[in-house]
Amino acid sequence: MKAKLTLHKEFSIGEVDKRIYGSFIEHLGRAVYNGIYEPKHPQADEQGFRRDVINLVRELNVPIVRYPGGNFVSGYNWEDGVGPAEKRPVRQDLAWMTLEPNKIGTNEFAEWARRAQAEVMYAVNLGTRGADEARNIVEYCNFSRGTYWSDLRRSHGAEQPHNFKLWCLGNEMDGPWQICHRTADEYGRVAAEAAKVMKWTDPSIELVACGSSNARMPSFGSWEATVLDHTYEQVDYLSLHIYFANQENDTLNFLGRSLEMDAFIKTVAGICDYVKAKKQSKKQVYLSFDEWNVWFHSFNQDTKIEKWIEAPPRLEDIYTMEDALVVGCMLITLLKNADRVKVACLAQLVNVIAPIMTEIGGAAWRQTIFYPFMHASAYGRGTVLRCPASSEKYDSKEYTDVPYLETVAVHNEEKKELVIFAVNRNLTESLDLEAGIYGFAQYRLIEHSALYNSDLKAVNSAAGEKVKPVVQAGGKLEGAGENLNLWVRLPPASWNVIRLGVL
Ligand code: AHR
Repeated sequence: MKAKLTLHKEFSIGEVDKRIYGSFIEHLGRAVYNGIYEPKHPQADEQGFRRDVINLVRELNVPIVRYPGGNFVSGYNWEDGVGPAEKRPVRQDLAWMTLEPNKIGTNEFAEWARRAQAEVMYAVNLGTRGADEARNIVEYCNFSRGTYWSDLRRSHGAEQPHNFKLWCLGNEMDGPWQICHRTADEYGRVAAEAAKVMKWTDPSIELVACGSSNARMPSFGSWEATVLDHTYEQVDYLSLHIYFANQENDTLNFLGRSLEMDAFIKTVAGICDYVKAKKQSKKQVYLSFDEWNVWFHSFNQDTKIEKWIEAPPRLEDIYTMEDALVVGCMLITLLKNADRVKVACLAQLVNVIAPIMTEIGGAAWRQTIFYPFMHASAYGRGTVLRCPASSEKYDSKEYTDVPYLETVAVHNEEKKELVIFAVNRNLTESLDLEAGIYGFAQYRLIEHSALYNSDLKAVNSAAGEKVKPVVQAGGKLEGAGENLNLWVRLPPASWNVIRLGVL
């Protein structure tokens, strides 16, 4: 099968905000306890953080990590997690029906993030709590000294303020499963007032208001419009969340799901513009896709988890080759919308629907989805180019006109690199991709790397990686001056990274 693509240096979509390669750690399952934190592990550092996990997070190049939830945050008292460890209470976490020991809290997580070379995106509780607690935690984290909360932080050993810049105003407040779920008007009012006092406390922060938990919520659309009606001038981003599943085992349909993600982004961007127009505002609210991933493998096993224990193995999806393709298509979709999406968080990072898994007392290992994320984060920085591409299309159970080729290109002017990310959705045939590339004199083909396995259900494990990238031979780049032609063969059902540059 053949496919074509045209790239021109001057035809761009927008700059990549590096925060689209963010991720997420929630107090859920084994993400924190027996995930990033396992004091008895041979690889634990003096704070109890696993060095092998930190190294894998660094390998993924994650610039920002959302914390502490998720559903968890809507019942969280942040004060429980600061101060002397022996005085911290054990609490019932009503979001996940577990026990929260509060051994790790804000200051410890800030330290972990520093070691992982990431910023923290901090979510405040607008479920059981409100504006007062929200402004207090901003003061605790970001005010230098001389006030009650900042001096309390200093007395807890964190002399310097954390200076967290990005804050979420609650989590999934439209969802009936949320602790103290609210209507759009109720949430909009609380979020607007919390936003106001949080920004008075620290005017340098940026805020994310909750959009819908997913585009299939009955209130989708009207929720966004109402919340923004209340908050438009106070917030900087509106959140989107999406999780994809393949419970029917229909791979072609599963691979088409990223079209839904693209439509979701475009619809929410349209609603932001509608409210902007209605308010005759000059301000632009951008999008924060702060939860996205594949999630379904653990649904059955999680129904058997005992209640009121600490850190049960919850949401431990083991990802397949085809999940990595879907994650690849989702990354391409985020990049294609770089003009609107400025923040995105792969949900989540360790053990809980995660690219990194750990064994208690044992190894940390890379899931299949680790690789497309690692590639995009490493090479997808710079300017996203428009990608007029043509390939044959197919119809699946839920989607029509799904192109076999999903692709995007990013030009990194500083590194003098042009990188094409591409997924071949054809399960049985290779795609012969021909690309006309204009404006890139002296560029050469550096490498074509691909992730594929003829068994779409192949998984990685602590024992070994059945799914890992393989360098491809046979690609060529020809032409003269500014006009180049690239030929590469994309294996069936593959994720591809084609790097061109000045050598
Ligand atoms: O990421 C897992 C959960 O999914 C989060 O806690 C919640 O926000 C979403 O429903």
